[in-house]
Amino acid sequence: MEDLSLHILDIAENSINAGAKNIEIVITDSLSNDLLTIEIKDDGKGIDAEAQQKVMDPFYTTRTTRKVGLGLALLEEAAKDADGQLKLESELGKGTKVYAVFRLSHIDRKPIGNIVDTIVTIIAGNPELNLKFIYKQDDNKFVFDTTEIKNRIGDLEINSIEIIKFIHQYLSENVNKLL
Ligand SMILES: Nc1ncnc2c1ncn2[C@@H]1O[C@H](COP(=O)(O)OP(=O)(O)OP(=O)(O)O)[C@@H](O)[C@H]1O
Ligand SMILES: [Mg+2]
Repeated sequence: MEDLSLHILDIAENSINAGAKNIEIVITDSLSNDLLTIEIKDDGKGIDAEAQQKVMDPFYTTRTTRKVGLGLALLEEAAKDADGQLKLESELGKGTKVYAVFRLSHIDRKPIGNIVDTIVTIIAGNPELNLKFIYKQDDNKFVFDTTEIKNRIGDLEINSIEIIKFIHQYLSENVNKLL
């Protein structure tokens, strides 16, 4: 995977598979600390302590369609390649938090890539999900919350073409001026 946005899509997919109703994605890039962090938090079914020891192993998966589970292992590798690390916190029945940190200026740090497409893809495929997306920089902060959108659009579906187009444009305008 070339872009961190694709890793984010992958990790959010884990949350959806775990039955999450709420997902929060926070990206922080700090020039002053030379750090990039990505946090993906869900209220899905969680992972028990025993399984938590194994989830970073590429040969551990609860998928039934194939025998490897690479999402977390690949994100950890991307973080380590950029002088960073991955942390996982989870509580059974409560939810899971995945936290990845990277050295922002590291030559091997993958680009963020098209985060707007990642967010729009998650929303379009999971209209019932509440997704909060926060992008923080040293002195800037952008907050996007599908709950607010849903309140404003009334009877319209969040995954209808018009609304998805609107969200795409709104995110592009706000995120691209930060990136
Ligand atoms: N947010 C989460 N909530 C609950 N369980 C999770 C979560 N994220 C990962 N897991 C568990 O950890 C396992 C490994 O996750 P990982 O993303 O590395 O691989 P995968 O999802 O099984 O396969 P792949 O990502 O390659 O499609 C999953 O099969 C699942 O059991
Ligand atoms: Mg996965």
